[in-house]
Amino acid sequence: MRTKIVAGNWKMNTTLEQGLSLVKELIAKENEIPACVQMVVVPPFTHLYSVYQLLKDYRIALGAQNCAAQAKGAYTGEVAAEMLASVWCQYVIIGHSERREYYGEDSPILCQKITQALHSGLIPVFCVGERLEEREAGNHFEVIAQQVKETVLLLNPVDFSKMVIAYEPVWAIGTGKTASSAQAQEVHAFIRQTLAEVFGALAAQTTILYGGSCKPSNAAELFAQDDIDGGLIGGASLQAEDFLAIAKAF
Ligand code: PGA
Repeated sequence: MRTKIVAGNWKMNTTLEQGLSLVKELIAKENEIPACVQMVVVPPFTHLYSVYQLLKDYRIALGAQNCAAQAKGAYTGEVAAEMLASVWCQYVIIGHSERREYYGEDSPILCQKITQALHSGLIPVFCVGERLEEREAGNHFEVIAQQVKETVLLLNPVDFSKMVIAYEPVWAIGTGKTASSAQAQEVHAFIRQTLAEVFGALAAQTTILYGGSCKPSNAAELFAQDDIDGGLIGGASLQAEDFLAIAKAF
């Protein structure tokens, strides 16, 4: 059985006060989260320690949105994976399309980040996905295969077995335009097949999340697909009610 995950990527949203009240709302209804689902909240760095203080007695896990490619040292403004682990983060998102696009993060940098995360005991949630023009040109499988080949496929099997993958078509992120469940399933199956070519049966154990305008109204259909093991949720994770409804869609 693969771990089912519903992770809420808050991106650069919420003050500390707003973030804590969102977490309090989730905690108040924690008993509604299906036992098979691992809920993860992924707030901005500044909120992590305080959010952990609220979450520590509950079964909602904590994640970070990014980590540095280096272990420590003179990298002004960066946050190391080890620091994230020290405030009880269990997950870290790596390779989100916004990081790739706005901060020029390419595969070699992302490989370093994955290494740092794994070294600190964090579970990387590694994002892949095609842009609209790539989908329209029919190149999406090629693009995704390349993103996976240059990163995840280079890992050893032990490290690979710790990874979570997120398929996030860039054209669906924050646009309200979701991939259809058939489109998403097709790519998830393709990713799993690509992983299996190198890692064999281990690929059947890999949690692959869908991300991109996932909301209460479409989550159940997406999560019902064979190769979709949960969601990486942006906008809808900022409303406790919506985020809980998505978790309950399993
Ligand atoms: P969205 O974002 O749910 O707001 O589309 C998803 C993501 O970027 O992880």
